[in-house]
Amino acid sequence: MKKAYLILFFVSTLTQAFSQRISKDFNADWKFYLGDDSTLRYEIKDLQKLQEVQLPHDWSILGDFSEKHPTTSQQGALPTGMGWYAKTFDVPVSQNGQKIYVEFDGVYRNATVYVNGKKIGFWPYGYTSYRYDLSDDLKYGQQNYIAVRVDNSEQPSSRWYTGSGIYRNVRLVSTNPIAVDHWGTFVRSEKITKKSANVLLDVSLRNDAPVAEKAKVVSAIIDASGKMVAQAVNYLNLDDSLKTTTQKFKVSQPQLWSPEHPYLYTVKTQVFIGAKQVDAYDTPLGIRSFSFDAKKGFFFNGQPMKILGVCMHHDLGAIGAVVNESAIKRQLRILKEMGTNAIRISHNPPSTEFLKACDEMGFLVMDEAFDMWRKKKNKFDYHQEFDEWHERDLKAMVLRDRNHPSIFMWSVGNEIREQFDESGTKIIKQLVDIVKQYDPTRPVTTAMTEMEADKNFIAKANNMDIYGFNYKHKLYPTLPGAFPGKSFLATETASALETRGVYVQPQDTVQLWPATSKNKYMENLNGNWTVTAYDNVAAYWGTTHEESWLAVKNKPYMAGLFVWSGFDYLGEPHPFNYPARSSYYGIVDLAGFPKDVYYMYQSEWTNKPVLHLLPHWNWKEGQKVDVWAYYNQADEVELFVNGVSQGVKRKSRNEAHVSWPVVYKTGEIKAVSRKNGKVVLSKEIRTTGAANQLHLAAEENSIKADGKDLAFVTISVLDKQGLAVPDAMNNVYLSVEGGAEIVGVDNGYQANLQSFQAHHINLYNGKALVILKANKSGKATLKASAPGLQTATFNIDLTK
Ligand code: GAL
Repeated sequence: MKKAYLILFFVSTLTQAFSQRISKDFNADWKFYLGDDSTLRYEIKDLQKLQEVQLPHDWSILGDFSEKHPTTSQQGALPTGMGWYAKTFDVPVSQNGQKIYVEFDGVYRNATVYVNGKKIGFWPYGYTSYRYDLSDDLKYGQQNYIAVRVDNSEQPSSRWYTGSGIYRNVRLVSTNPIAVDHWGTFVRSEKITKKSANVLLDVSLRNDAPVAEKAKVVSAIIDASGKMVAQAVNYLNLDDSLKTTTQKFKVSQPQLWSPEHPYLYTVKTQVFIGAKQVDAYDTPLGIRSFSFDAKKGFFFNGQPMKILGVCMHHDLGAIGAVVNESAIKRQLRILKEMGTNAIRISHNPPSTEFLKACDEMGFLVMDEAFDMWRKKKNKFDYHQEFDEWHERDLKAMVLRDRNHPSIFMWSVGNEIREQFDESGTKIIKQLVDIVKQYDPTRPVTTAMTEMEADKNFIAKANNMDIYGFNYKHKLYPTLPGAFPGKSFLATETASALETRGVYVQPQDTVQLWPATSKNKYMENLNGNWTVTAYDNVAAYWGTTHEESWLAVKNKPYMAGLFVWSGFDYLGEPHPFNYPARSSYYGIVDLAGFPKDVYYMYQSEWTNKPVLHLLPHWNWKEGQKVDVWAYYNQADEVELFVNGVSQGVKRKSRNEAHVSWPVVYKTGEIKAVSRKNGKVVLSKEIRTTGAANQLHLAAEENSIKADGKDLAFVTISVLDKQGLAVPDAMNNVYLSVEGGAEIVGVDNGYQANLQSFQAHHINLYNGKALVILKANKSGKATLKASAPGLQTATFNIDLTK
C-alpha cells in the first residue's frame, strides 16, 4: 500500500515536473544523398557524398527535363528515384520522461524513418501527415541520429507531377506525458444566429503517465482583437490512455467567417494537473453555416451563394512541390482577384500551410483524399496501397484538417474506376463511414463521371451527401431526373487548353484537341507546342471555359463548379507529349501570369468593373484579326481601330464575350464600355516598337530575410515609348548583389526546357518570372540584362 502511494507520489511529481509542449522546426541541417545506401540507416560514413539541404526539399524539381525519365511528360519529365535524408540532433537530459515526437507533414513517398539505427516507421502515401513517438528510442544528453529513406523509384506513380522527398515541413515536438492528443481537438459551431452561436470543442487527452490523473481543461475563445469572448472548464478523469471531453460555449453576436469576411477566432486550451499547467493547444475557429438544397443550390451563412471554384494541384511552379507560404499566398491572391471563392485541392490532401492561407484569405476548400481506390490509373500508383492504408490515410486527412473553417466538404475520390461496377458500392460505404466517424458535420462527395443512375455504382450506395460530376455539361439537365432529391456540384469543368499570349487567326470554331480518344496526342499544329489563348480549344471530354461556366451559371440546382484548372501545373501536358511538360488547362500560367480567359471569370465572378481586350496589336498590315472583349457592368462595348468604329456589341444571355473581325492596321485599338449611354471603362492597346529596354517589377519591395519569404519579380521588355512588347522572346541574364538569391525562373511556356534553377530565362510572349529569397537582412539588387537591350535593376529590402 505504502509502496503504491510512493510510486503514485513519485510519478505524479514527475508528470508535473515536465514542461509543456514545445514544437521545434526540424527542417535545418539535413544531409541528402540521391540514391540508395543502406549504411545511412546507422550513420553517415562518407560525408563527401552527401549534400547539405534545408527542408522542405524536392529533388525532382532540381533535375533536368528529359524524355528518358520514367515519369514521362505526364509527371513533368523530371527525375524521381531514391533518396536518403539524415542528420544528428541533441536531446537534453531534462527531456527524459517527456514524450518526444517527430512530425512529418508530407514525404513523397514510401518513407522509412530510422532513429539511432532502429526502424521507427514506414508510410507510403505521399500526401498525408503523420508523427512517430521517439521517446523510448532517444539517447538523452547525447547525440542522436535520424535517417529517412524515400523511395519514389517505381514509375509511373501518378497522373501529374508529384515531387520527390521531404517536400513539406518536419517538426520535433515534446510534450508532457499528459497532453492533448495528436490532432486531438475538434471544433464546430451550431445554432448560429446574429445574436449568438453555440460552439462545441472536443478535447482528447492522452495520458502516457503510468497513473490515473484528474485533469482540468480550460478553453477560451479569443476573438481577432485578442479579447476573450467565451470560456469553458471541464474536468476529466484520465483513467485510460485516451479520454475525450466536450466543451460547450456560447458566443454572443458572433462575427461570421465567409470568403468575403474570413473572420477567425482562436480557441486556446490549457490542461492542468492540480495547479500545474501541462499543455497549451490552439484550435482555429471560424463560425459559419452552410447547406445544400437540391433545387436551389448552395447557401452560406443563410445566403444563396454559387460555388465559384477552381481545381488546383499542389506544385508551386518553378519551386516544385516544396511547400512555401509566400508562393501559396501568391496563387491564392491571384485567384481571389479573379473572384474565386472555392478551391478543390485535387486529388490529394494539401499542406496545412495551404489550408491556413485559405482560412485567412477566405476560400472554401473541398479536401480530396484519393485519385484511385483499388483499380489503378498507373502501374505503381496508390492502388497498390489502397487496401492496407486507405483507412489510416483517410483518418489522417480528416483528423488533421477538420478544424479549418475553409474546409466545407470532403471528397473521397476522383473519377474512380469502381463507379462502373459493384465494388464501388461497397467501397464508398466504407469510405463515407470512416469520414463520418471523425467528422459528422461536413458533407462527403466523390467526383464522378457516370451520369446514368443505373450505371453508377458509387451513387447506388446512396450514402453521399452531395453528388459531384466532372464534365458532360450537356447532361446537367438530366441529373435531377436521374438522381431525384440529390444536390449537385460540377466538381470539374472545362479542361480548355491555352498558352498565354498565343493568338491563332482566324479562330471561328471551337476545336477539341485531339478530337476523340482514338489519338492520344495532338499533332503539333502551331509548330511550337502551343495552343491559342482565345478560349476555343478544349480536350475532347471538356469544352471551352465560357461554355462550361454558362452551363452552370443559370442552373440553380447546380451548386457551383470547380474549373479544371486554376493554374497550369507540372505534368499532364495534354494535348502534347514531350517536350511539352506542363499543363495547358490553367486559367493562369505556371509562372502565375493570367491568360486572357482569367478576365472572363473576373467579369462574371466579381463586382468590380472589368473590360479586357485581346489580342495584342502587333500584326502584319492587312491581316485579319479577331478582337475579343470580356466586360461586365455595362450594356455594350464599342471597338475603334485608329479611331474608326468597328461597331457596338452586346453579350446575349448565352455569351460571356463579344468579338469583332477586324483588318489590322498599325496604330491602336480601343474599346469603350457603356451603361445607359455613359462610359464605364475604356481600354486601349497600341502597336509597339522594337524591344528597347528590360523592365523589372514586383508585388513586393521587401521580403523577410528568413530563407522562406519570396519575392516574385516580373521581367518584361519595353519599347522606346515605354510600352510592353507583347511578343518579346529575348533571353535574359540575371544576377543578384546583396543578401538575396534566385530560387527559380519560369516563363509559363509549357514546352520550355530551361532549368527552373537557371540564372537566365527566355521571355515568353513578353514575360518571365524570377523568384528571390533572402537569408541575410539588408538590401539586394537584381540585375537583368540581354544583348541589345538596356539593362534593368530592381532593389529590394531584406528585413529581419
Ligand atoms: C480529369 C481528371 C483531372 C485531369 C483532367 C484533365 O478527367 O480528373 O485530374 O486529368 O481530367 O482534363
